[in-house]
Amino acid sequence: MKPALADVTRGRILFGGDYNPEQWPEETWPDDIRLMRDAGVNSVTLGVFSWSKLEPRPGERQFGWLDRLMDLLHANGIGVVLATPTASPPPWLGRLHPDTLPVDEDGRTEWWGGRQHFSHSSATYRRHAAAITEDLAARYATHPALTMWHINNEYCTYDWSEAAAARFRGWLRRKYGSLDALNTAWGTAFWSQGYGDWEEIHTPRHAHYLKNPGQVLDFKRFTSDMLLECFLAERDIVRRYTPHLPVTTNFMPLWAGQDAWRWAEEEDVVSVDLYPDPRDPFGAQHGALVQDMTRSQARGPWMLMEQAAGPVNWRGVNHPKPRGLNRLWSLQAVARGADAVCYFQWRQSRQGAEKFHSGMVGHAGEHGRTYQEIKGLGADLARIAGEVSGSHSDHDIAVLHDWHSWWAGAHEGRLSTEVDHARILTAWHRALWEAHLTTDFAHPEHDLTRYRLVVVPQLYALTDTAIDNLLAYVRQGGTLVSGFLTGVADEDDRVRPGGMDARLRELFGIRTLHEWWPLEAGESVECEGFRGTLWSEEIDKSDDALTVAAYKGGELDGLPAVLRTGRAWYLSTLPEPADLRELLERIGAEAGVRPVLDGLPAQVEAVRRGDVLFVLNHGREPVTVKVPGTHRDLLTGTTVTDDLTLGRYGAAVLKP
Ligand code: GAL
Repeated sequence: MKPALADVTRGRILFGGDYNPEQWPEETWPDDIRLMRDAGVNSVTLGVFSWSKLEPRPGERQFGWLDRLMDLLHANGIGVVLATPTASPPPWLGRLHPDTLPVDEDGRTEWWGGRQHFSHSSATYRRHAAAITEDLAARYATHPALTMWHINNEYCTYDWSEAAAARFRGWLRRKYGSLDALNTAWGTAFWSQGYGDWEEIHTPRHAHYLKNPGQVLDFKRFTSDMLLECFLAERDIVRRYTPHLPVTTNFMPLWAGQDAWRWAEEEDVVSVDLYPDPRDPFGAQHGALVQDMTRSQARGPWMLMEQAAGPVNWRGVNHPKPRGLNRLWSLQAVARGADAVCYFQWRQSRQGAEKFHSGMVGHAGEHGRTYQEIKGLGADLARIAGEVSGSHSDHDIAVLHDWHSWWAGAHEGRLSTEVDHARILTAWHRALWEAHLTTDFAHPEHDLTRYRLVVVPQLYALTDTAIDNLLAYVRQGGTLVSGFLTGVADEDDRVRPGGMDARLRELFGIRTLHEWWPLEAGESVECEGFRGTLWSEEIDKSDDALTVAAYKGGELDGLPAVLRTGRAWYLSTLPEPADLRELLERIGAEAGVRPVLDGLPAQVEAVRRGDVLFVLNHGREPVTVKVPGTHRDLLTGTTVTDDLTLGRYGAAVLKP
């Protein structure tokens, strides 16, 4: 049996965060422990950025401080998620081995002095990272405080160096076998780009004009794979010492650089860092999207590895969380499957680049509102843990997402730079969220048969396997709704004959796709019953297809904006938010999917996790919500019958 998050939680919800006590005099530690215990902290992540403390000079090891910390935490019942410190190599590594430093697209070296300045392709970096990982694992394998491994941190460094170029060539040789195959896949006949020798191939560095799309696409795949190799190397080292302990690495939400579907398969625990902007009116929806995606990658409970108790310090203007919002968003994560609510970081730094980034204990200290609210949250999580920890809910809807399609569709030579995969994915998820329809995410090649409704916001590039999967899904009775620019290209980013895969055209009822008509930012096009944005299409529909809504006026007057053939729906534009929501409600109702509760006000989110119902008021005004039946609110211990009143940012966790 693979180790899992449940081995660590043991019926609890993990609560804590990154703990960087090496930034503080040791006298602070007992105070940290006192405050952690008062707040119900039961898990901390140590060592994320400790490499230069652990190895101040090449080969030297200083574990004493970490030994003392591990002992102290254990003595106080706080488990340790131990990180390998390999995201931020010490200055000596870069100085002695400049080949460990990454190089950007313009050929400039990224020096030490920040973080994440490692070349994933550098053999020297990999050797040093393995050595410190090995020694850390050997030293703490049997330490009773150790509960889990956290490898590196937010793998995200691209590298265009010579070392990367050499590995890129190796990766391409393995993928294509011959230069002929590579030249064909990349379409190098265009602009005289044919390669006659492997050594001619480099990373796609700064070029005079548009770069070769195949080369750029493969470079993104390669980058994800190289970072994954780094992860796997460290994972396998710690696994040798502690096969019974789970291993994770923290994802950034909806980040373009990593094929997280692929990565999640290699993790025991899927974890993510999540920082919605407290001022963003759609912050909660962004949170829900990332949480749904992470739960789907984990196929079970997952870990919120980092969030902020107050402001971050990396936006232009950084806002604190108003009273109650931290609690609300934390409960939202639990509602959507998190069994760990953790923060960056425990104590706010007084120095360093993130000294204005909040901590669980802020500069205001233990009497500050932030820590006081953290304490309240710790108590809340303890109250609900017994009923939710370990439980998992599948949902009736799947939204499809694939990094390779995102990468291919993002090429600089596309028809509209307004069309952005993440933005479109967000728009569709938002429509479902506002309709109170809870959704999973899935990869287009996953088994979709258990879903009543499959939603494809946009999958520009699809493999034949994925297309067959979609066709089979509809054939066996599923309802599919797809947005524009889907099935345009194959996995080499070669446009499919007809501008869209013929089987998909037949499925949706598109006889001829004459032209794409992208819209300017802010421009919209009138359709029957709604306005379309971003994109429109000149489509000739087939005889058996039904025009659900036609374009009105302009070049496309009378042509289908929304069309369907049986249970397959196609939208050639992006309806404005309320219109997309209504359309999805209608399609969902036909497919038999139902909102979590009927008649919910817009600002209230309801989510089921197992047999527990979370009701969350994202608004600043109190609301009363119909919750038919009698329930116990696990947060307050009170009985709720039929009507639930929630104050500003209020939440209830209802058990029948
Ligand atoms: C995360 C990172 C943390 C910290 C945090 C600040 O991306 O993993 O180390 O920098 O952001 O928001």
